Amino acid sequence: MKGIVLAGGTGTRLSPMTLAVSKQLLPIYDKPMIYYPLSALMLAGIREVLVISTPEALPLFERLLGSGADLGMRFAFAEQAVPGGLAEALLIGEAFVAGQPCALVLGDNLFYGAGLSALLKHSVKTLDGCTLFAYRVDDPQRYGVVEIGPEGNVLSLEEKPARPRSPLAVTGLYLYDGNASTLAKTLHPSARGELEITDLNRIYVERGKARVQVLGRGVAWLDTGTPESLLEAAQFVHTLQSRQGMQIACLEEVAYRERFIDAEQLARVSALHGNSVYGSYLSSIVRGD
Ligand code: G1P
Repeated sequence: MKGIVLAGGTGTRLSPMTLAVSKQLLPIYDKPMIYYPLSALMLAGIREVLVISTPEALPLFERLLGSGADLGMRFAFAEQAVPGGLAEALLIGEAFVAGQPCALVLGDNLFYGAGLSALLKHSVKTLDGCTLFAYRVDDPQRYGVVEIGPEGNVLSLEEKPARPRSPLAVTGLYLYDGNASTLAKTLHPSARGELEITDLNRIYVERGKARVQVLGRGVAWLDTGTPESLLEAAQFVHTLQSRQGMQIACLEEVAYRERFIDAEQLARVSALHGNSVYGSYLSSIVRGD
């Protein structure tokens, strides 16, 4: 399966932080934001990833991530010239995806939790149509909202409804079969002029080809849309990391544990981080501490 990280948008809700810097390059505690969704794709076993961003920010993502060789990954980069909606990622990525199944993740979504990697891998393996990941939240009206029946079937799917029919938000991680780009071409811009991912997902629902995987209470899905939620995400990462002495979304560690790279490669990349906490952490993994 291929992966796409959509890291576009103007990040206006985080202004002035985002006036000169792309939102997905801002730190969540000690790492650039994009590391977190990227690690989710890697934990799903995905090794080929297309990063989509604005023409201004794309060179910065290229500088940050490089070819992916250090991680045993392959990164490609593509521009989204104007914010045309999340579903546009499937059009921009059409040649990259080349009719294969793909996972789309939003560059500002953080997923963390026990068993997440196994759950993602299982979802990739059993994909038939599209799989959405839902998460219970207190404020569903801010998100895509899915209502599911007793057998897990989708009863309704709405984008930011004023009166949500369920507390289940649709998270920014979507798995699609090889038809997604073709189906995205049939979409029309919404009232706000964007190709909505919810409209694409609704096509799968109408065809009886959408599954919902609910992420339970043992999983954290954090959002970074406002200064407050950005701080909360940073505090979450800091709290867990300092308590356990283990990093969240350390790409080199994920690559090593997923066997994308070996100990020798890990030792080489850990040296690139100098005397930072991150670098020492990587060295400790090389030593097997
Ligand atoms: C987008 C999607 C929404 C989804 C959310 C997850 O909203 O349109 O369905 O629930 O991402 O982060 P946005 O953040 O673009 O408002």
